[in-house]
Amino acid sequence: MSKACLVTGCAGFIGSHLCERLVRDGHDVVGIDCFTDYYSRPVKESNLAWLCSQPTFQLVEANLLEADLPALVNGKSWVFHQAAQAGVRASWGDDFQIYTDNNILATQKLLEAARDCRALEALVYASSSSIYGDAESYPTHELMRPQPISPYGVSKLAAEHLCCLYHRNFGVPAVSLRYFTVYGPRQRPDMAFNRFITAILDGAPSHIYGDGEQTRDFTFISDAIAANLLAAERGTPGEVYNIGGGSRITVNDMIAILEEIAGQKADVTYQAQQKGDVRHTGADTSKSKSDLGFEAQVGIREGLQQEFDWIAGNRK
Ligand code: UGA
Repeated sequence: MSKACLVTGCAGFIGSHLCERLVRDGHDVVGIDCFTDYYSRPVKESNLAWLCSQPTFQLVEANLLEADLPALVNGKSWVFHQAAQAGVRASWGDDFQIYTDNNILATQKLLEAARDCRALEALVYASSSSIYGDAESYPTHELMRPQPISPYGVSKLAAEHLCCLYHRNFGVPAVSLRYFTVYGPRQRPDMAFNRFITAILDGAPSHIYGDGEQTRDFTFISDAIAANLLAAERGTPGEVYNIGGGSRITVNDMIAILEEIAGQKADVTYQAQQKGDVRHTGADTSKSKSDLGFEAQVGIREGLQQEFDWIAGNRK
């Protein structure tokens, strides 16, 4: 059945893919985005190119802190809250206010708007593996103690807690998904794969932070999108779920795979480890498998080939 949906952060990497999936599945989608300057507007506009030609998609350009959120949420069955100030390593110093405004305050405003919405069946919040920090053990399950080591992780965890509070106190059907480093076509330009692929194609140096032996449980974009749909349909309100791709590799491994795909060597330089970067991430996805039926479908080699082809194709 067709659902009325609101997607925040619709012009971003994950938000735009999610809107496309919803529209293709026959849903009516209102997308909101304020085109923050974290990366360039033309990149976001190109993410929206297909959507803007679709009669069942409507773009609202507005900041969540200023928009009439009650009016936007009213009548929606599903709300997907993807909007955020992303980026782990940039969240120190004066910029932290951008994170508190866009990640904590904006989420609280959205949850307030959702309080009295009778039609609302699910509000899916995009949380992050960074809430775990350097976790107690790997793979990490949802009950392990969150101990973020970046201000970004703190802001994502605070918003996740707000989702739980608004569920417990006001019955908002909020479900949180802890994404583990999502990649694929349209990946943000500040993220590792995008930077490394671009550098290889430019013949420029790829800068690895630290010794490159840190690991990430990389998650391909279509798997993250499938998880959102499953969470909206089957997620238990008030719960949190790990969404990991099952492709846990080191940064050095990722360079090796990219060299193989590109058919050329990367010019690698090692730089200081970045403050806020966790050493490892690894998702225990047994809960998302049993509750949501989530299972990642795309492995790292296949997913990286798709991201590589997208970046290479865009340059032509
Ligand atoms: C990513 C996203 O950027 C966050 O928004 C998200 O919340 C987070 O995943 C998450 O899963 O919680 P991150 O894991 O830092 O954060 O993703 P990448 O930017 O792709 O970095 C992956 C690894 O590559 C990190 O260890 C980073 O230090 C390293 N890296 C990144 C480099 O060595 N060089 C670079 O130029 C960029």
